[in-house]
Amino acid sequence: MAKIIAGLASSHVPAIGAAIDNKQTEDPYWKRVFSGFEKTKEWMAKVNPDVVIGIYNDHASAFSVEIIPTFALGCAAEFPPADEGWGPRPVPIVKGHPKLASHIATSAILDGFDLTIVNKMEVDHGLTVPLNLAFGSPTEWPCPVIPLAVNVVQYPPPTGKRCFDLGRAIRKAVASYPEDLRVVVFGTGGMSHQISGPRAGLINSKFDKSFLDRLTKDPKGLAAMPHLEYMREAGAEGIELVMWHVMRGALDDHVREVYRFYTVPASNTAVGNIILENVGKTGKKPAAKKKAKTANKTAKKGLRKAA
Ligand code: DHB
Ligand code: FE
Repeated sequence: MAKIIAGLASSHVPAIGAAIDNKQTEDPYWKRVFSGFEKTKEWMAKVNPDVVIGIYNDHASAFSVEIIPTFALGCAAEFPPADEGWGPRPVPIVKGHPKLASHIATSAILDGFDLTIVNKMEVDHGLTVPLNLAFGSPTEWPCPVIPLAVNVVQYPPPTGKRCFDLGRAIRKAVASYPEDLRVVVFGTGGMSHQISGPRAGLINSKFDKSFLDRLTKDPKGLAAMPHLEYMREAGAEGIELVMWHVMRGALDDHVREVYRFYTVPASNTAVGNIILENVGKTGKKPAAKKKAKTANKTAKKGLRKAA
């Protein structure tokens, strides 16, 4: 059976993509940002998942403003990079996983979660930048990626709770897929940023850090946060953070935080990155490790006694 083994969240600033494409990653400004993703890339290479489900938002690249689906699941075999004004980014075509994507669509929709099925779609920096941050710049992405686009560009975006519940529906769908696939879910966008208006440039590190803490430890409470709070505390584009709840909802209640990185700014945005691994239903360590720990303690006690 397929299973979700971990989740990764990361910001998606388009200027990060431009820095990669224009070979500026060693510039001091950008090095500060990219160095924080070295551990992430190591972890990703070690975990080597069979499939990634990439929760991201389209920035009027694939959907324009004529049609804006709330949740759009990419079921195609391929998703080329979109032209966002400077030509398509020189990154590999995203190869999908039509069989697993169709299975997720069937499971989620029959379960009452009405996803939009997308059979042709280009993907913008919302997806390609997090793929670079997690995988570097290979000639092919190392595994299939199922894109799931969430509307955060036109009011009303879905609530955090709805996003979390979508994660739950994805988890259920993946768990009932018969092939043994190890799946990692990406939540992307955020953290605090506002691109236009009188508050342009707003960053709120206190809010962002608390968001990271609660994502690990209080995911359901965090998902209940109303839209207004994102707007007030994290800026207009901070609402992109609702996508992180899809990733979190797809994981177990108890997770192990493997890595975290936070820096300010990249372009107009606070950049956050977190990796969470499933550790089983209780959040306790696997029995074998626990046994070894107990044995160790007993041995230490024995040593103390002997001394
Ligand atoms: C920026 C951030 C975004 O999330 C985005 O979609 C566009 C621009 C920025 O920080 O410049
Ligand atoms: Fe964005």
